[in-house]
Amino acid sequence: MNWILELFDYMPVEGSSWAGRVDWINNLITAISVFCIFAITAVMLFFAWKYRRKSPDQKTAYITHNATIETIWTVIPTIVCMFMFYFGYEIYHEMRNPPVGAREVNVEGFSWGWNFQYENGKKTSGELVVPVGEPVKLIMTSKDVIHSFFIPAMRVKEDVYNGNYSFLWFTPTSIGDFRIFCTEYCGTSHSQMLANLKVVSKEAFDDYVNDKTAEDAPKIPPAELGKKLYAQKACVTCHSLDGSKLVGPSFKGIFSNTPHEFEDGTSGVVDENYIKESVMYPQKKVVKGYPPVMPAFEGQLNDEEMAGIIAYMKTL
Ligand code: CUA
Repeated sequence: MNWILELFDYMPVEGSSWAGRVDWINNLITAISVFCIFAITAVMLFFAWKYRRKSPDQKTAYITHNATIETIWTVIPTIVCMFMFYFGYEIYHEMRNPPVGAREVNVEGFSWGWNFQYENGKKTSGELVVPVGEPVKLIMTSKDVIHSFFIPAMRVKEDVYNGNYSFLWFTPTSIGDFRIFCTEYCGTSHSQMLANLKVVSKEAFDDYVNDKTAEDAPKIPPAELGKKLYAQKACVTCHSLDGSKLVGPSFKGIFSNTPHEFEDGTSGVVDENYIKESVMYPQKKVVKGYPPVMPAFEGQLNDEEMAGIIAYMKTL
């Protein structure tokens, strides 16, 4: 029977905490599909033979409906589909909800390569290094066109856009090197748009990320850059850091999953995309109870500065 199992052994190495479950649901859906192909084809051939016309004047029986059969072919496939949906959704839900305190790395896609920046400001290109056994959250954006960040061994993939942030997270479970692909056709060198994921021990990661002698040594950590800009760009005039209400809402604890209410009656959480939008186009979603007086910073901050402000707000 082993050869049957080997047929299903086409997936890349399982490198993250959910890889086994992703493969399990993938194999389950494949197995159900293969079973259906054979079962339906077999029954179809059998009926074609069994109910073939046996004499030139034979007439087809006139059957309008059959409630029992119709119920069976509705209920059973529904149960099977809900079963597949449930396991798929369970993993998807986990993938869309990164744990609080996950290590964050900023990812920037460009034609044609990947840049990474760690929490302490260290920047690398073409290689992402992460510690084994710890959740890592990637906050991703693109310098130009749409790219897609794909690590088959981690079973994660997410599109990367210019102008907003997308994210993905995973917990690597084994040390080693894994290939990162761009999986959205993005121009002539799309197929060369690769990077390496290096999963290392916790100690090796600390050494790596704190290595100041390297060419890509940290200049200034994003959160510190954000702190500087907070003063330089005069955010301080209207946004307090201690929770007190000035012209605008305080930045204290602003990053949260508790929805904020806006002047237009809608509500939403304060995440990376909300912060970016509110800095670039402050009038779009004004927090309820505050005047729409903030000037727009569109075109006045580069991507690195924007990432810095976001990183700083998360520390408050
Ligand atoms: Cu970037 Cu394909």
